[in-house]
Amino acid sequence: MQRLYRKRIVLGVGGGIAAYKSAELVRRLRDQGAEVRVVMTRGGREFITPLTLQALSGHPVHLDLLDPAAEAAMGHIELARWADLVLVAPATADLMARLTQGIADDLLTTLVLATDAPVALAPAMNQAMWRDPSTQANAEVLGKRGIRLFGPAAGSQACGDVGPGRMLEAEQLAQLAADCFQRRALDGRHVLITAGPTRENIDPVRYITNHSSGKMGFSLAEAAAEAGAKVTLVTGPVHLPTPDRVNRVDVISARDMLAACEAAMPCDLLIAAAAVADYRPEVVAPHKMKKDPASGEGLLLQLVRNPDILATLARRDDRPFSVGFAAETEHLLEYASRKLRDKNLDLIVANDVANPAIGFNSEENAITIIDRDLRQTSLAQTSKSKIARQLVAFIAERLNQA
Ligand code: C5P
Repeated sequence: MQRLYRKRIVLGVGGGIAAYKSAELVRRLRDQGAEVRVVMTRGGREFITPLTLQALSGHPVHLDLLDPAAEAAMGHIELARWADLVLVAPATADLMARLTQGIADDLLTTLVLATDAPVALAPAMNQAMWRDPSTQANAEVLGKRGIRLFGPAAGSQACGDVGPGRMLEAEQLAQLAADCFQRRALDGRHVLITAGPTRENIDPVRYITNHSSGKMGFSLAEAAAEAGAKVTLVTGPVHLPTPDRVNRVDVISARDMLAACEAAMPCDLLIAAAAVADYRPEVVAPHKMKKDPASGEGLLLQLVRNPDILATLARRDDRPFSVGFAAETEHLLEYASRKLRDKNLDLIVANDVANPAIGFNSEENAITIIDRDLRQTSLAQTSKSKIARQLVAFIAERLNQA
C-alpha cells in the first residue's frame, strides 16, 4: 500500500552531514506515492548537490527566496499552500533556533512560517549540541506549537561522538510522514480534563487538601493530545510539567475549578480526574487564626459542600460525553455504579485506592471501566501513562459511536 499516495510533501534540507540521507528519503517518500518538492538551505547545498535531489524528486530544487525566475515558476507562498506536509530533514540546531524565533531570512524558514500544513522536523546534530539547554528549550517550544519532532536517534555520530542527535533513517522518516496523515481517534474534538487536588483555604496560611498528585489527569491530557484532540487541562496545585500541545489552566479551589471548566465549555468530552475537595470552610478567616485559650483543646471548623463539577457539567443542555473517576477504598464497583447514575455519566472509571501500589500518588494504576449498561471492562495494572492511552482509546471509541 502506498501510504502517501498523492500527498504533496515539501522536503526542506538543512546544512548537516545527515543531508546525504535526504537523497534516500526523497526516494522512500516517492515509493509511498508522495509528490516531493525539495527546498535547500545554503548550508544544505554544501553537503549535497541540488542536481542529485532534482534528479530524484523529478522537479527543480528550490533554493532562493529572492530568485525572480524561481518565484515566477512557483513562489514561496504558492509552495507553502501547495504542501500537505513540510518535512525538514536534516533540521540543524541553527535551523531549529531560527524557526523558534520565527526568523524568515531564507526560503525554507519563510515557507515554514507561511504554511498552514503540518510541519515536522528530523533533528540531526552533534550529541552535545542536541543536549544543550538552548536546543532542548527550542525543541520544547516548537513541540508546544504543534511542530512534530521525528527523532533524533542515539548512536555513533559522523564526528566520532556517541549519543542522541543522529537523524532517523529514511525509511523511518517516510513512515512517520505517513503517520501524519492518519486520522486519529480524537481529531477535531475538544477534550476538557480536570486533574490534581483542590485546596480550600482556612485562613491565609492554612488549607484543606488531599494526596492527589495529578499524574493520572496529566497522563490523560497527554494521551488525548496524542490522539489529536484540542485539550484543556484544568488543574489544582501540582508539581508536574505541562504536556505538549495541552492548554493548561491552573486553579486553586473547587469553585475556581468549576468556573474554569465552565469558561472552557463547550467541549465534546469531559474526563474528571481531579480529586475535588467535597467540603470547604464556611468562612475563610481574613487573618491567621490564633490558638484560642477560651476554647480549651478543641477547634470546630464549620464546613460547607463544594459544587460537584462533574455533575454540574454533565447536567447541562450542551453536556459533553462525561467520564468520571471513582476512587474507593471499599465496595468499589457498587459505589462506582451508583456515582455513574447519580452524576449522569456515560462512563465511570473505578480504581481501588486502598491498594497502595495503584492508589493516590503512585506511579501505576489498574482500573475497571463501567458503562451505563453496567458492563465492565478491566485494564490491568501498568504505568499511568499506558493506562491513560488505553483509557483514551476506549473512551474515544465509545464517543465516536455515540
Ligand atoms: O463523589 P466523588 O467525589 O467520589 O466523585 C468522583 C468523581 O467526581 C471524580 O470524577 C471527580 O473528579 C468528580 N468530582 C467533581 N467535583 C466534586 C467532586 C467530585 O468533579 N466536587
